[in-house]
Amino acid sequence: MTLGSKDFLSILNLTPEALEQALALAAVFKADRLSGRAHAQVLDGQHVALLFEKPSLRTHAAFTIAVRELGGDVIEPSSDVAFGGRESASDVARNLERWVRLVVVRTFEQARLERFAAASDRMRVINALTDEEHPCQALADMQALIERWGPLKGRTIAFVGDGNNVAASLAQASVMLGMHVRLATPQGFELNAGLAKSVRRVARFDTTFTQGHDPIAAVKGVDAVYTDAWASMGQESDAERRIGIFQPYQVNASLMAQAGQHALFMHCLPAHRGQEVTDEVIDSPASIVFDQSENRLHTQKALLAMMSSR
Ligand code: CP
Ligand code: NVA
Repeated sequence: MTLGSKDFLSILNLTPEALEQALALAAVFKADRLSGRAHAQVLDGQHVALLFEKPSLRTHAAFTIAVRELGGDVIEPSSDVAFGGRESASDVARNLERWVRLVVVRTFEQARLERFAAASDRMRVINALTDEEHPCQALADMQALIERWGPLKGRTIAFVGDGNNVAASLAQASVMLGMHVRLATPQGFELNAGLAKSVRRVARFDTTFTQGHDPIAAVKGVDAVYTDAWASMGQESDAERRIGIFQPYQVNASLMAQAGQHALFMHCLPAHRGQEVTDEVIDSPASIVFDQSENRLHTQKALLAMMSSR
C-alpha cells in the first residue's frame, strides 16, 4: 500500500482510494494493538524527525508512540534550530534528508510547509497542522465515524464555529467519503475561497458542501456536529474579540437538540469548555472526542506505514 504522492501536506494529496486504504489499515493497526500483535518491522530501526513550531499533546504523543511501535525512533530538533532562522528552511531539509526519510512538521503557513517539502525530493513530509489545514486530524475523525456508522456515504456533518484548519481538512475528507458538509461560521470566518473550491472539487457521490452563518439551520437533522477553538494557535491576541463574535456558535444542549436524534458530537481537542462547547455536551454519551483522539495513533501509524513503503 502506498500513498501515491511524495508528501502528505493535505487531504488533497490522497486519492479517494488511498484515503480508504489508510482508514482500512488504521482499523487493522487498532485491532492488532488491542490483541497484542506488533508491527515493529514497518520502520525497522529508521528515525523519523518531528519538527513542532506550535504546542501539541495529541499529534506529538501519537506520532512518537506510532513511530516507536512500528520499530523506529524519533529525533526532535528544537524549534529554534528547525525554524529559528539559524539557517534557511531548505538547508534544514537538505540536512535532514541525509538521515531520515520521514519528517513530521507542525508550523504556521501552509506555503512554508510546501516550500520545506519541495526542498527535498526524497524526504517525505507529513503535515502535523498548519494555519490552513490539519489532515492528520481528519483521518482520525473519519475513522471514529466509520467505527460508529460503517460507510459514511449519505451522512451529513455540520461544523459550527471558525472556518479554520480543522474545518478545511474535515470538509475535504468528508466529501471525499460521500458525506454532506454544512459549515456555520460568523461573517468573515468562512473557509477561504481556495479551500472552499478544493472541497467542491474533491466531492464524490453528489455530496454537497454549504457555508452559511446560521448555526441552527446548519445542524438541523445532521448526523454529527463538530466544533473547534474560536481562536487557534497563533491567534491568541484576538481571542477576547472572538469570544464576543462566536458566542452564538457555542455548541450547547439546545443546539444539539436541533441535530438528528442520534447525532454525535466531535471536537479535535483541546476544548475550551464554556466557550465553543459546554461540559454538558462534551461529556455526554453523544461525544466521541476521545475516540477521535485515540485514533490519531492508529491513523498516523497507517500513514507512516504507507509512506515508508517504497
Ligand atoms: N487535535 C490536536 O491536533 O491536538 P494537539 O494540538 O494536542 O496535537
Ligand atoms: N484549530 C486549532 C486546532 C488545534 C488542534 C489550532 O490550530 O490551534
